[in-house]
Amino acid sequence: MSVNLKPIVVLISGRGSNLKSLIEQSKNYKIVNVITNNPDAAGLQIAKEHGIPYSSFNRKEFSSLQQFKEAIYKEIDNNKPAYIALAGFMQIIESALIERYTDRIINIHPSLLPKFPGLHTHQQAIKAGVKMHGCSVHLVDEGIDTGAVIAQAEVTVEPRDTEESLAQKVLKREHELYPWVINALTCGEISVSDRKIHYSTIAVRSAEERGFLLIK
Ligand code: GRF
Repeated sequence: MSVNLKPIVVLISGRGSNLKSLIEQSKNYKIVNVITNNPDAAGLQIAKEHGIPYSSFNRKEFSSLQQFKEAIYKEIDNNKPAYIALAGFMQIIESALIERYTDRIINIHPSLLPKFPGLHTHQQAIKAGVKMHGCSVHLVDEGIDTGAVIAQAEVTVEPRDTEESLAQKVLKREHELYPWVINALTCGEISVSDRKIHYSTIAVRSAEERGFLLIK
């Protein structure tokens, strides 16, 4: 591995389309392990196809949720990641891990946070009648989708949009935004300290070109 490529681990629970975009658009990082809490996650196939090591954990093989989570966290530690990227990982992250990886656990969420945290974000957006919707890449803190937002991408909500059509539009932007953020973090164009985000001039310009919003 090139010394300049930062090791990251990606945590998934399902489809893995963001994992795929992170693999295909990696420039400054190397995905050293894909970790899942769901042995049936379709995304594991994507890791296999790309020759990326993966580790699958099955809740049924652990006597408590705590032990299950600790096994997953131990696997993360074994990989010594510079960043942990959550990509559809459906499990609450314990504060012990957040403290161990301060400013280094990143998540993608399908809404313009702080609007619509949690599940069914597209349905929530349609119900609320918003004109703009989108996705956010944010730091993970102890809350649900409450960590500092690093960058967002918007989509317009058309009157004819359904939950499905909106989800598709947002997902397309997710696949552009997430690798962009992880590349920028792993080459230092975006940096984080004490849960505050700092953007280099290059990052600001690059975000503008791509139509991404930076939170300042
Ligand atoms: C994405 O919509 C992501 O924003 C959310 O979970 C979904 C995961 O999709 N956190 P995929 O597994 O990456 O296809």
